[in-house]
Parts: sequence; C-alpha cells; structure tokens
Amino acid sequence: MDTIIYKQDLATPAQLLKSGQVVAFPTETVYGLGANALDKEAVKQVFAVKGRPSDNPLIVHVESFEQAKKYIQTLHPLAEKIVQQFWPGPLTLIFEIIPGSLPQEVTGGLTTAAFRMPNAKLTLDLIHQAGVPLVGPSANTSGKPSPTCAGHVYHDLQGKIAGIVDGGNCQVGVESTVLDLSNPEAAPMILRPGAITREMLADFLDMEILLDKHLVKESETPKSPGMKYKHYSPNTPVMMVQPEILATAVADLKAQGKKLGLLASPKQLVGLNAELVSAYEDESVEAATKGLFAGLRALDEQDLDLILVTTTAETGLGQAYMNRLKKAAGQKIYEV
Ligand code: TXA
Ligand code: MG
Repeated sequence: MDTIIYKQDLATPAQLLKSGQVVAFPTETVYGLGANALDKEAVKQVFAVKGRPSDNPLIVHVESFEQAKKYIQTLHPLAEKIVQQFWPGPLTLIFEIIPGSLPQEVTGGLTTAAFRMPNAKLTLDLIHQAGVPLVGPSANTSGKPSPTCAGHVYHDLQGKIAGIVDGGNCQVGVESTVLDLSNPEAAPMILRPGAITREMLADFLDMEILLDKHLVKESETPKSPGMKYKHYSPNTPVMMVQPEILATAVADLKAQGKKLGLLASPKQLVGLNAELVSAYEDESVEAATKGLFAGLRALDEQDLDLILVTTTAETGLGQAYMNRLKKAAGQKIYEV
C-alpha cells in the first residue's frame, strides 16, 4: 500500500476514512491514527497497524460536545463547565456510554469511553468532512515515542496506512490529559497528565484534583488501560539526569567508554561534549515537552549506547513531561 501525504486536500482523506481506511491526522498534541469510530473493521485495522494490545481502548475524536453526547449515558455535573473552558483542547474526558453505542473494539470492552475535541482547525474540518467521529491513538508503532510531525508517522507506518494529513509540527508534543468523569458522584481524577495541568483544573474548579498514581499489575484491569504497557521507548537505552549533575554524568559515562546522546535545553548543553546533542527550542518546560519525543527519535537514529535526558520539576506541565520521560527511561536515573 502506498502511503499518500495530504497537505491541502482534505476531501480525499475524509473519503478514505469514510470508506473504512486508516489515515493519520495532526492534532495540537501528537499525530493520531484515524479511523471511523463506528466501523469496527476499520478500528481493528488501527490495532493491527500499531501492534497495539486490544484491551487498550481508544480516544474518540469529535468535532463538538454535541457529537460526543450521542454516545454518552451519564454526564458528570461538572462536564459542561469543563468542556466550555477546555474544549477544543488537549483534554480527554471519560464518560459512561450508552450500551452498544460504540463498538467493543473502541472501548476495549469497558462501559466507558474517552472523548476529545482537538484544538486544530484542520482536524476538526477532517472530522466534519468524514461525517463520523474518529478514533485516534498516537500514530506510532506501539511502544515507541509518539509522533509530533508527519515524518515520524511516515517512518513508523509507511506502507501500512492509506494516508497522512500533514499539518506540520505539533505544538504541545505530548498526549492529552485524560480526566475521568465517568462517575457523576466522584471528583474528577487525572488518569494521564498532559497540557491541561492538575493546577489548571484545580484552580478552575476550585477543588483538589487527584492524579491516579496507581501502578498497575499485568493481571489487573487498570482505570486507564494504556498505563500498564511499556511506552515511548526508543531502541537506544534512555537515562534521566538532573540538570545540576549533567556535566558530571557526561564525564563519568564517557570515561566508561559510552557513546552518548544528550537531550536538554540550550543552556544546559553549553560546554558539554557528547557524540550527539539535541537541544530543546529554549529553556521553558513548554519547549522541553514539545521537543521530547522528537529529540528521542532523532537521537535514536544514530548509533549511540545511551541517551541522557534532563529532568524537570514535577509541577504544572512538568508533570506531563516527567511522566513520559520516566516511561521512556524505564525509571532509570543517573546517580553519582
Ligand atoms: O493527545 C492525545 O490524546 C492523542 C491525540 C492523537 O489525540 N491520542 C492518544 O491516544 O494519546 P492513545 O490511544 O495513545 O491514548 C489513549 C489513552 C490510553 O492511555 C487509554 O488507556 C486511555 O486513553 N483510555 C481510553 N479509553 C479509556 C477509558 N474508557 N477509560 C480509561 N482510559 C481510557
Ligand atoms: Mg499512545
């Protein structure tokens, strides 16, 4: 199968989606692997193409809250308020759905489903033209860093999908915040941190927002099934390092004969010497988050023994950055 890249033309990819094909699309977070959420054969192809375990459910991308409501059984009392403030945007909401309204393949057999309205005009136009909600797991091979440009998708899935809608680089760089609103009697809980931060939700709702930190065992059914799988890992081993001891770590690991790649901010990299460096756009946590997956992918193309990546404080957006980095590094951190 030839994988066609579409830049201006949305009519053709929309038609392909309508007819049951798989087409990747851009969003403000990462690229998604799109298929008609109402067509179970199309959804099965998404799992096959990614090599994704079938009990890991998908996000249903909608062009409006109205479209999502067609499938939702019970609305949480805070749902309208949250949607008004944060949609379109990098926030996925979990609701109890009307039984049988979405294929089992989408929900992974759960009684709930995840919905998101992306903040990208191109994506909303594509959903509108396709005329159906679209599933959209990140458009990478399962276990690899999520794609933040069309080239990443092409690298992983070339020849396996009908097309890619190219919308340039993603602004956020990590996947959406997943917020559980499935129990109308329970307070909202974050299942996956993202660009809509715990602090933003807590301030806006004027209540404490919990982050589910529960580590899931293989045999359990997790609240967010994606949490139990290995994630975001390049082939080259990744290790975290605190910025204050980056220079020490580099000297030490080079003395051990390791071929090193470094991923850090421009200032953190000043004066350091490694086989390969990749710098974030600036010193901000936004730039680090935007550049994390792209940097890991770029360094992974080279013949390195280890990729060192700097840590950041786990507050605000730093929570999402550290969540992805810890998984990419398998929790490994450099210690003196
Ligand atoms: O930013 C994003 O969310 C991107 C873009 C393309 O929209 N999509 C994305 O999809 O990251 P995916 O499939 O890689 O991640 C979906 C996450 C997984 O952790 C999954 O387990 C969780 O959402 N999820 C989906 N349905 C759920 C449900 N009913 N209950 C709890 N968690 C759910
Ligand atoms: Mg993913």
